[in-house]
Amino acid sequence: MNTTLFDRVSAVQADLLVTFVPSEGAFPESTAWVDGNADGQLSQLRESGVFKGGLAQTLLLPSITQDFAQPVLLVGIGKDAELSDMQARKVIAAVAAQIKSLPYASVALASRALVLKKRTQSEVTALIAQWLNEGFYNFLGFKQDDAEKATKVTDLLIEGDDEAALAIGTATANGSAFARQLGNLPGNVCTPNYLASKAQHFGEEYGIDVELLDETKMDELGMHCLLSVGRGSDQPSYLIVMHYRGGEEGEAPHVLLGKGITFDTGGISLKPGPKMDEMKYDMCGAASVFGTMKAICELKPKLNFTAVVAAAENMPSARATKPGDIVKTMSGKTVEVLNTDAEGRLVLCDALTYIERFKPKSVVDVATLTGACVVALGSVNSGMYANDDAVAESLKAASQISADKIWQMPLNEEYQQQLDSNFADIGNIGGPEAGSVTAACFLSRFTASYPWAHLDIAGVAWSGGAAKGATGRPVALLTRYLLDKAS
Ligand code: BES
Ligand code: MN
Ligand code: ZN
Repeated sequence: MNTTLFDRVSAVQADLLVTFVPSEGAFPESTAWVDGNADGQLSQLRESGVFKGGLAQTLLLPSITQDFAQPVLLVGIGKDAELSDMQARKVIAAVAAQIKSLPYASVALASRALVLKKRTQSEVTALIAQWLNEGFYNFLGFKQDDAEKATKVTDLLIEGDDEAALAIGTATANGSAFARQLGNLPGNVCTPNYLASKAQHFGEEYGIDVELLDETKMDELGMHCLLSVGRGSDQPSYLIVMHYRGGEEGEAPHVLLGKGITFDTGGISLKPGPKMDEMKYDMCGAASVFGTMKAICELKPKLNFTAVVAAAENMPSARATKPGDIVKTMSGKTVEVLNTDAEGRLVLCDALTYIERFKPKSVVDVATLTGACVVALGSVNSGMYANDDAVAESLKAASQISADKIWQMPLNEEYQQQLDSNFADIGNIGGPEAGSVTAACFLSRFTASYPWAHLDIAGVAWSGGAAKGATGRPVALLTRYLLDKAS
């Protein structure tokens, strides 16, 4: 039997041991070991039906016998010998929820008992580390009883001692938590200026180069389309650029671009009232780019990576852009703003043109771009579009490894004509049909000079209802994508 974990557990005296119990068949090695040391109490619990080992079922045993006084958390893993990602995620979420409410600082997981379909041990280790840490996330800072909620866990021991996988999982979770925090912050706190200040913090904390383009600078560059979105707001817009340089000097970077609409009222094409509060999440693309930058700065892979955020607040006012207004993009193309609520593409197009100067190896933009994508794919997959097969395939591979799902959508030229305008080079909406596709088509007009993909994350970036909150997606996908590019 592999004793690595148990040696370490006894050596460090973990406060809690998490042990996995299947609902049928023989116990995994680690569970059998605990059972043996506990006079067969685990077997009895299962046989008597007190703890059946159903998927994600939990039972805390504060102390089993006098000899085995260490608290044990039993966690059911059901009857399947190999779990799907979804099943494993449920199990780990249940573990995290339990641990969160317990006072223990060090926790050891006998995680070799978890076998996932089509996944290597090191993939499983990274995912467990990520999902567990994600489960500890709390949105803190705005409720009076906050202090009690923070997790007490300071030390996690995951069986296998795969330090590299643990580091990836932990950094991904840290990046995801950062993205969720930015996403969950209300629009009166998380403004474009706030995002710019976060970039400056990253500069100080991680020693990366940060450039902030204010409205004056963007005006000089001709980014009138981006600027037209923030015109109705009292909050100034920013283009935020962060350079992580872990690769060769002068080597072209991979670029991530995030939509950072810190609140989307729709502008003069005002959105209806119900659920409008959720439009504070319209900067989740930007948040995921920040979160990925954090994960990359922690992991320090050998590559050059530039993160760009187009930040603005979309408000109606006497100065706001009106339906029918024509604005000029940095590329020179003119846009007829038929609907001021299709603002994401307006900020992104100028950022996409600005990015040309980096001669990027690849560009991936991330945006809560269309309600139509939510209709098409729900909250399971991000919509992925690409003008380049290699970028699409890299993203699919990263998606598979990170369990952060994407689905490729079409970019046929037939859709492009839906954007024709009688008055400008291009309209900013393409009729009600294929709304997510025509939004991507709009962006594609500005990406001809580099390999590019677009992720429409409108359905996956946050959950609504009782569990309302940012998900941190697609930080895991993007972190994996960049790690795969490192030399
Ligand atoms: N931020 C929204 C997209 C969105 C809506 C995301 C609902 C998640 C949930 C975007 O700016 C928007 O308003 N898009 C419009 C485009 C339309 C006017 C062509 C939409 O999807 O309705
Ligand atoms: Mn909008
Ligand atoms: Zn929007």
